[in-house]
Amino acid sequence: MFLVTGATGNVGAEVVSALAKAGEPVRALVRRPDAALPDGAEAALGDLNDPGSLGDALKGVDGVFLLAGYHDMPGMLARAREAGVRRIVLLSGGSAALAKMDNAVSAYMTLAERAVRESGLEWTFLRPRAFMSNALRWLPQLREGDTVRAQFPEVPVACIDPADIAAVAVRALAGGHEGRIHELTGPVALRPADQVAVLAEVLGRDLEFVGLSDEETRAELEASMPREYVEAFWDFYVGGTLDEATVYPTVAEVTGRQPGTFAGWAAAHADAFR
Ligand SMILES: NC(=O)c1ccc[n+]([C@@H]2O[C@H](COP(=O)([O-])OP(=O)(O)OC[C@H]3O[C@@H](n4cnc5c(N)ncnc54)[C@H](OP(=O)(O)O)[C@@H]3O)[C@@H](O)[C@H]2O)c1
Repeated sequence: MFLVTGATGNVGAEVVSALAKAGEPVRALVRRPDAALPDGAEAALGDLNDPGSLGDALKGVDGVFLLAGYHDMPGMLARAREAGVRRIVLLSGGSAALAKMDNAVSAYMTLAERAVRESGLEWTFLRPRAFMSNALRWLPQLREGDTVRAQFPEVPVACIDPADIAAVAVRALAGGHEGRIHELTGPVALRPADQVAVLAEVLGRDLEFVGLSDEETRAELEASMPREYVEAFWDFYVGGTLDEATVYPTVAEVTGRQPGTFAGWAAAHADAFR
């Protein structure tokens, strides 16, 4: 049995679907009993910030697909080990490699990886770069009109389809990837304007791209997240501490097929943009 955390999210839902399609027994950790899940998964209630709530979810589980950044990762991993879990596949990120403890995002990724390493469980770390699904942030603008105003317009990212992260996760959960760190990207680095051009093509809409200035970007970030995360993204994308442009061959190496393109992701999610 595999337990998938974040099962209602962009990556976790893909992991649940992929496991179910492969005929694997899969349990989805959810915080609400009415959470919508892909077919083929049983639901278990629990909160990652409350390890004591995970008892039922962990019963009979061999491997956990785990998100990073929760309050008591060592406590949660100890519960998992006591429950008989053997293997953790951790969804981390590129900034874990920086181990920058003065950067809130890098710090939570680093601490999560450390907790997993120290748990005594078998582990695999997935370090994807920016997700293609981050483009869903533009939905409110696209519902309002045909102009997309984007943050950090000069920053290229080798964005990855969450389904490809899931495909690698499924292989890691099956075993043979213990102690490995998988740096995961899509096939090519794109700037926000490139992504908007692809969206325009796929959606058959004439979209205008506007790059936000640093001041506008900061104001938008401050309105949407705590200050420590604003500073973290500023450090990554204005300070240039995080390289998200380098393309890695890992998805193809692990899955035997090329990673999906942004056009493919956009086509698969076109309905969400309409
Ligand atoms: N976006 C990127 O570019 C990027 C890049 C590298 C790494 N990452 C990492 O990837 C992670 C997952 O991304 P995503 O896009 O799949 O996330 P997402 O779509 O925002 O979904 C987050 C998931 O986590 C669940 N969750 C949140 N708090 C929880 C809690 N306390 N206990 C149990 N479940 C909880 C949510 O469940 P509910 O339905 O109950 O809210 C949801 O299923 C991010 O959090 C980040 O750490 C992201």
